[in-house]
Amino acid sequence: MANKFYLTTPIYYVNDIPHIGHTCTTVIADILSRYHKLIGDEVFFLTGTDEHGAKVAEAAKKEGLPPKEFCDRVSKTFSDIWPKLNIEYDYFIRTTNPDHEKIVQDILEKIYKNGDIYKAKYTGLYCIGCEKFITETELFDGKCPLHPNREVVKQSEENYFFKLSRYAPILIEALENENSPYHYRISPESKKTEVLAKLKAGINDLSISRAEVSWGIPVPWDKTQTVYVWVEALFNYYTATKITGRGSFWPADLHLLGKEILWFHGAIWEALLIAAGLALPKEIFAHNFYTIDNQKMSKSLGNVISPQQLLEKFGVDATRYLIASSFPENNDSDVGWKKLTEKYNADLANGLGNLVARLAKLCENKNFTVKLPLPEKILGEKELASIRPGPALEKIWQQINLTDRLISENKVWEKTDREAETVLTEAVKNILQIGLSLRPFLPETSAKILDQFSGPEIKAQPPLFPRIS
Ligand code: MSP
Repeated sequence: MANKFYLTTPIYYVNDIPHIGHTCTTVIADILSRYHKLIGDEVFFLTGTDEHGAKVAEAAKKEGLPPKEFCDRVSKTFSDIWPKLNIEYDYFIRTTNPDHEKIVQDILEKIYKNGDIYKAKYTGLYCIGCEKFITETELFDGKCPLHPNREVVKQSEENYFFKLSRYAPILIEALENENSPYHYRISPESKKTEVLAKLKAGINDLSISRAEVSWGIPVPWDKTQTVYVWVEALFNYYTATKITGRGSFWPADLHLLGKEILWFHGAIWEALLIAAGLALPKEIFAHNFYTIDNQKMSKSLGNVISPQQLLEKFGVDATRYLIASSFPENNDSDVGWKKLTEKYNADLANGLGNLVARLAKLCENKNFTVKLPLPEKILGEKELASIRPGPALEKIWQQINLTDRLISENKVWEKTDREAETVLTEAVKNILQIGLSLRPFLPETSAKILDQFSGPEIKAQPPLFPRIS
């Protein structure tokens, strides 16, 4: 039977419209999803939107719309843009889905009955941008470092608390010991170290309900409170399997997300699952961030890049390439219009596009006919399997350069048709392997290349990636 592979992106807040950051995680997830399909896995790829909480309620109010109507509108900008990038998600979850709400309530009720939830008074500083309490020591100039344009608000409420602290030793053991019944992985290694350090430093219990926020799921045993948005949001990964009748896909194989929400995904989520008696995800991968021309991307700086702009300038496959090749795997990665354009011209117009055009023309001129089988192995497989799309692409581009050199060094154009055959066969074999290896990354280009070179008669075609400025 086929292996199942269940992977997720974060569900994005609907207070904002899609930008290159959301695009990054979702494109990479799609590439991984397509790769797993290519190797024969049965894949479930989930994305969606996070629609409750103070931040979304505030954004709806600003637009003068009832929250649900506002959510419908913004959620659609996410679910509509992904297919334009050839992102083939299997399900799009919205946390305002009544089934999601009901399942979350049932699970919380269970944790409550098991004694892991208690009521207490709490006073703290809340960042609506992060939708979380932050400590004095985390502040920078009195502001949340991630949301310097917002004020943190002092809040004092009676809330329900989850006994997170009691899970610290279990989580440490689960991360450090492969034989722990709760074993799960956090990658890259530096991110695992980060979570372990925080767990070892000692952690507090977690407030999981809000008295002041009405835009949320009611706490089942106390309807005067709503469930803390982060707690219900995390459960989307589980509720989606139930809603879609894919219960056997749980636990998730991979949660892909950005570094700023690692703690929620790498510790709080697992503690909640253990408390609920549910199996833990196998791997949490937290990537770093894009910066734009060495600055943080932000509305106030006016440097936000949208997926629509990328598509308009580069087209779908090039956008996917530019995202994947600059994936901030371990460190932040700087992008910007100038850098992206240079990379497009160097790697796609020149590198790949040029080789394809050159080779097709030579085959045509030398009356070369051949029918080669598709290669068995794809390039960069090891790298992709370990979530390193950048290095996987480098492997493919090494082969592009090598094939280019093969043609140049043998001066194929000076040879007779007969003499050119050996080198052209080798070059076409390479280009077929390149075409197949590109399939998860650039689906349309991959199909074009495989079509053009699977013979027997190879014809020149319009350039794959015209130069742009
Ligand atoms: N709603 C929460 C997630 C809940 S998941 C149970 C949330 N939403 S968000 O809209 O703010 O999206 C955050 C995610 O977008 C990041 O974790 C990351 O995946 C992506 N990115 C946002 N900005 C980014 C960059 N500048 N660079 C790369 N990815 C970034 O947090």
